[in-house]
Amino acid sequence: MPPSTRYFHYNPAQQDFSGGNFWDLRATGWKLQNAAAEQAQDPPLDPNEHGLIDSACVMYRLSQSPYRKLFVAVWGRQAFAIRWPADIEKVCRTPGPPDPKDPFPVHLSPKDRGRSNATYDQFGLAISAYEAAPEVSPFTSKFDAALAHPDQQILSKEEQTGWDLFHGKAKCNTCHLDGTENRSGGTISPGEAASKAPLFTDFTSANLGVPKNRAVPYYRENKPDAFGFTPNPAGLKFIDKGVGDFLRSPTNPNANWIRFAMQYDGKFQVSILRNRSRLPHNHSKRGRVGSLSLGPCETSPFGGRPPANAVAS
Ligand code: HEC
Repeated sequence: MPPSTRYFHYNPAQQDFSGGNFWDLRATGWKLQNAAAEQAQDPPLDPNEHGLIDSACVMYRLSQSPYRKLFVAVWGRQAFAIRWPADIEKVCRTPGPPDPKDPFPVHLSPKDRGRSNATYDQFGLAISAYEAAPEVSPFTSKFDAALAHPDQQILSKEEQTGWDLFHGKAKCNTCHLDGTENRSGGTISPGEAASKAPLFTDFTSANLGVPKNRAVPYYRENKPDAFGFTPNPAGLKFIDKGVGDFLRSPTNPNANWIRFAMQYDGKFQVSILRNRSRLPHNHSKRGRVGSLSLGPCETSPFGGRPPANAVAS
C-alpha cells in the first residue's frame, strides 16, 4: 500500500477521506502509522468476536503460547517481562466488555501496563506484516498471471469480456481501481495494469443506498447472552451509519472532522474485491450487502455480484 493509504486522512484537493481499515474506516492508523496493525488489534477485544476483557489478557495468553519464543526473537525479551496479578486466569476467563467503572480489569502496575500496551502494538504490527506477506497475499490469481504476462492470453474470452465491462461500460473501476483508470478509451492490455498490483479499491468510501439485509443474525441479537452482553440492543431498528458514526465517535482522531459526519452517514469503505466470492466479510457483517451470489458480473475474473445500485451511484 502506498503510505498515504496506511492511515485515515482528509484530502482537501479531493474533498474526501481516504485510508483507514474496517468498513467504516475506524482503524485509522494514526497511532501506529499502520491501519492494518490497528485493525488487527480489534477482534481479540471485540465482544462480538474473541471477546477478551482486556488487551493484557491477550498478552498473557500470548506469553503462554508456542508463539512466545518467536515473538521474543523478533521484539526482544522485555516483551513479556510483566508481573501478572494472581487472579489473572480468573479475570481473563470472563468475557468482555469490561465494566466501564473498571475498563482494564487486569490490574497491572503503570510500568507493566505500559509494557503490555507496547507489546500489544507489536502484536498488531506482527499480524499486519504476516497479512502483507506472500503466504497471505501472494498475488497469484489468474488475474495476476494475466497482468504479469501481457504477451499471453491468460484470461478466457468470457473473463476478458468481464474485465472489459468492469473498467469499461460498467465503470466499476471508478471506485474499485483495477490499475487501468488513467486510460481514456481504447483497449487496455493487462501489461498496462501490471505495475499496480491493484487491490480494487480507491481506499475511499461511498454510499450505495443498499437496504438492510434482514437475514443477518446481528439484527436478532437483541437479548442478553449468558454473560449479560447484548450485541445489538436496537435489534432490527439498528442502522449502521458507517463512516458518519465513526466520525462522531471518540475514535475520530481529529475534532475538525466531526462537521463532516452527516455527509458521511451511510458511506462504507469501497471493498477490496480480491477473493470476494470466498470472503463473507466487510460491511456484510452488519448486514447490508450480504453474501455474494452469481449475477451480471459472473463473467468477471474477480467473481461476485455488485450491489444492486452500484453502477447508478
Ligand atoms: C461509487 C463507487 C462504487 C462503484 C462505481 C462500484 N462499487 Fe462496488 N462497492 C462500493 C462500496 C462502497 C462497497 C461496500 C459497500 C458496503 O459495504 O456497504 C462495494 C462493494 C462491492 C462488492 C463487495 C460486496 C460484499 O459483499 O462485500 C462487490 C463484489 C462490488 N462492490 C462489485 C462492484 C462491481 C462489479 C461494480 C461495477 C458494476 C461496482 N462494484 C461498482 C463502491 C462502488
